[in-house]
Amino acid sequence: MSSKKLRASITGVHGYVPDYILSNSELETLVDTTDEWIMTRTGIKERRILKGDLQGTSVLGIKCVKGLLEKTNTDPKDIDLIICATVTPDMFFPSTSNLIADKVGASNSYGFDISAACSGFIYALSTGSQFIEAGTHKKVIVVGADKMSSIIDYEDRKNCVLFGDGGGAVLLEPSSDDTGIQDYLLKSDGSGSDMLCLKAGGSLRPASKDTIKNKEHYIYQEGSSVFKFAVTNMADISEEIMKKNNLKADDIAYLVPHQANKRIIDATANRMGVGPDKVLLNIERYGNTTAGTIPLCLWDFEKKFKKGDNLILAAFGGGFTWGSLYLKWSYNN
Ligand code: ACO
Repeated sequence: MSSKKLRASITGVHGYVPDYILSNSELETLVDTTDEWIMTRTGIKERRILKGDLQGTSVLGIKCVKGLLEKTNTDPKDIDLIICATVTPDMFFPSTSNLIADKVGASNSYGFDISAACSGFIYALSTGSQFIEAGTHKKVIVVGADKMSSIIDYEDRKNCVLFGDGGGAVLLEPSSDDTGIQDYLLKSDGSGSDMLCLKAGGSLRPASKDTIKNKEHYIYQEGSSVFKFAVTNMADISEEIMKKNNLKADDIAYLVPHQANKRIIDATANRMGVGPDKVLLNIERYGNTTAGTIPLCLWDFEKKFKKGDNLILAAFGGGFTWGSLYLKWSYNN
């Protein structure tokens, strides 16, 4: 007797962005840039910033998870596991997932954080799905959230225009049919680590007067080199997952890409052969929220999805890390 594979379905999604809007015109007053440069090079018009003292990434995660529990009518005590993808944890330890679990009342859950930069949500979603597929967990929450403004130098025009704060969360449950997460591909290449990183604050270069003076607690990125890797690898891995699953462009309902740069997204869509009507974009409003972009996109466009729709999620980020995930959407709105 053959037993059917247990799949993990996304049964709800919720996102959160802070109220404060940092527009391109405000950035023009902070650094030597223009709305025209930012729009043509990146496609970003504005981003959200979490203001106020003692407001860490967990604040974003808590809003996402509370909204998700309410929306899906889920008792927080029924949550088995919370995984949080982030590169801006509130602290090195405890994990941000722990802080979120405490504040949302998920007292029977445990959790951990995943650090894979902009690919963090795909890494975390594929990890979370394993616990469902194993049959050991019934309700897993996967959060992707980043407070990028906490590691941005607002005097560095190359980076401050790119990033924003925000996040999203999904609930994973065992699928009752053949919808849900079908397949994923994850890759990394540590030889690219120097091109996109946070140089100091870790055990290699603990915080010191010099690291602060040298601005090493802010994001460092060799933009044009990273761009080349991002274009090639995000396109390659999206094409690879289609081939592996015998998917043609017509079979894809939507591409849900990491929102780092509109030009990287266009190159990926071109390689997949999918037209602009199938590419979900919100980079214009939120910029790059790192682990937050993909769940924010799912939340923004949730109403468009129909049960059975084939979605391809794809990302590239610091590490380098990259990945793609193929899922069949599990519910109608
Ligand atoms: N306004 C005006 N001019 C600017 C700005 C700005 N905000 N920023 C840079 N410039 C200038 C540069 O100084 C440079 O001038 P120069 O030629 O006189 O030196 C010129 O514009 C071109 O700079 P480039 O860096 O070559 O510009 P590029 O077209 O590559 O665009 C960008 C820069 C948008 C950063 C692009 O390289 C990119 O998107 N890179 C990939 C980002 C990415 O995907 N990262 C991975 C995810 S992030 C994560 O994992 C945390």
